[in-house]
Parts: sequence; C-alpha cells; structure tokens
Amino acid sequence: MSAISPTLALRDGREIPQVGLGVWKASQEQATMAVREALNAGYRHIDTAAIYKNEEGVGAGLRESGVPREDVFLTTKVWNRDQGFESTKDAARASLDRLGVDYVDLLLIHWPVPMVDRYVDTWKAMIELRDAGLARSIGVSNFTPATLDRLVDETGEAPVINQIEVHPYLQQETMRAVDAGHGALTEAWSPLGQSHVLGDPVIEAIAAKHGRTPAQVVIRWHVQLGNVVIPKSVTPARIVSNIQVFDFALDSDDLAAIGALDRGERFGPDPDTFGPPRP
Ligand SMILES: NC(=O)c1ccc[n+]([C@@H]2O[C@H](COP(=O)([O-])OP(=O)(O)OC[C@H]3O[C@@H](n4cnc5c(N)ncnc54)[C@H](OP(=O)(O)O)[C@@H]3O)[C@@H](O)[C@H]2O)c1
Repeated sequence: MSAISPTLALRDGREIPQVGLGVWKASQEQATMAVREALNAGYRHIDTAAIYKNEEGVGAGLRESGVPREDVFLTTKVWNRDQGFESTKDAARASLDRLGVDYVDLLLIHWPVPMVDRYVDTWKAMIELRDAGLARSIGVSNFTPATLDRLVDETGEAPVINQIEVHPYLQQETMRAVDAGHGALTEAWSPLGQSHVLGDPVIEAIAAKHGRTPAQVVIRWHVQLGNVVIPKSVTPARIVSNIQVFDFALDSDDLAAIGALDRGERFGPDPDTFGPPRP
C-alpha cells in the first residue's frame, strides 16, 4: 500500500511534500534500503545531512528506486565545521558528489553555532549556491529567535524552512510563531521524540480510539499543526505505515489532549550552546 503526501508551499514559490523520511543514524546500507523502500511506498521527500555519513547510501537508494530524480525532494545540510563563505560552497559541492546529484531541493545550515559566529557568512554562500542552481531552496535548522532575526536583518533573505526539534513533549509554540512571522515553515526533527513519546498513555489511547499506531497519531498531529515532518525509520513496515496518515483526522479533543503533553523536554542539544569546535 502506498500513500502520497500533500505538499506545502515554500516562501520562494516551490513546494515540499509535508511528510518525508529522515535517515539520521542509518548506515550507508540502511539508508539505501530505507530510501528505496520509502520511495516505493510513495514518499517523495528524503532528509539527510553531511554529518550523517550516509549521503552515498541515500543517492544509491534514490537510483535503485527507479523514481525520477525530479520527482523527489532531497534535503542535505552544511555541517558546523564547514561554516564560512568558501567552506560552505566546498561542503555543498562535496555533498552533491556523494549523493550523485546535480542539485538538492533544500540545503540547510545544520546548527547556528552562535559562539563561532559564522552563520551569516554561511548564509551568504548559500544564497549564491541557490542562485547558481546547486540548491533549489535554502533554509536553516535549529535557529532561535535571535539567530533567525539576525540572519534576516543582515542579509534581507529569510530561509524557507527552520528545521527544529518538535514533538508532543516539546511543542515549540514560540519558535513556530517566529518562523511563521518570517514566512518560513517549521520542519519537525525527532518528530516521534526519538520514539520516547510513542508509549505515552495519552498517545496510546488516541491511537486505540482511531485504530491507528501511536506513530501515525503523532505524525498526523504534526500534519494538522502545519509542520513538515520527517520521521526516521529503517524498518520497512514502519516506513510504510508512517506515511499512512492522510485517511484519518484527529478531533479537537485529541488535539487538546496532545497539546497538554508539552513539557519543554528536549531529546537533542540546545541550539544556543551546541557545536563549538573541540579544543
Ligand atoms: N536538524 C537536526 O539537527 C536534526 C536532528 C535530529 C534529527 N534530524 C532529522 O529528523 C529525522 C527524524 O528524527 P530522529 O531520527 O531523531 O527521530 P524520530 O523520527 O523521532 O524517531 C526515530 C525512532 O523511532 C523509531 N520509529 C520510527 N517509526 C516507528 C514506528 N512506526 N513505531 C515505533 N517506532 C518507530 C525508529 O526506529 P527504527 O528506525 O528502528 O524503525 C527510531 O528509533 C532524522 O532522521 C533526521 O533526518 C535532524
């Protein structure tokens, strides 16, 4: 059974499939299998990063699937140590080489790393990469209100997306509003809370009520909030079921119950302090 995700409009006029596949922690071989399975199951959006060290595997899965390159929305990210004007361009070209593609659909600054303070120069390089056609759209990840405001103030160019940690235990109402104020979509990473939220009794009860899996309930919650969402799995049956979320809806009671789970709990690092180079 396959399912096709609807798309959301990006501020630059392009479109992104709302549900995609994340591949953090997948090996090269797992990434190839997961990308191939996902594309065969109807996914048209894959999220990787240079630091995941599986871009070759992702590219192989894309080619093995037989799905035309132009039908797939492919994201990668510039890693922290590659920030800076020339180094960002070199890093992006190296990612394209590893992926075996001529362009990515979305290139993100992976973390702002504010204490190193190179994200504005990095963004200027990304604007050039976009204008040269190597990235169709450009965005950021893990940006905070302060770093996002400064990026826009100094360059006059807002990202199309801010990819941040969002799940029922960290709902990010403030940051989602700041993103929207810049015309940027919010993309949820660790959307399942790295699986920690799936055993929550509230999520389990809503899943039982709808005859769905807890993961489908959480992914559907992201969809109804308007988030782009990239659940990761290297398990074929989960890859298939995680995108079967367009044939049911959460009601206002469900949304209120999940809304009440917010407790500001991060499973990943804090963007204000993450990423300084090791001495
Ligand atoms: N920008 C950033 O800084 C950043 C940071 C973290 C993540 N990300 C991106 O976001 C993606 C998703 O985040 P994530 O990988 O941290 O966590 P996640 O998607 O919240 O959770 C992934 C975990 O949930 C399990 N899982 C998936 N579907 C399931 C299901 N239907 N039932 C039960 N368990 C299920 C997976 O197991 P199996 O794989 O074993 O099936 C895996 O252990 C990443 O892969 C990456 O692309 C970005």
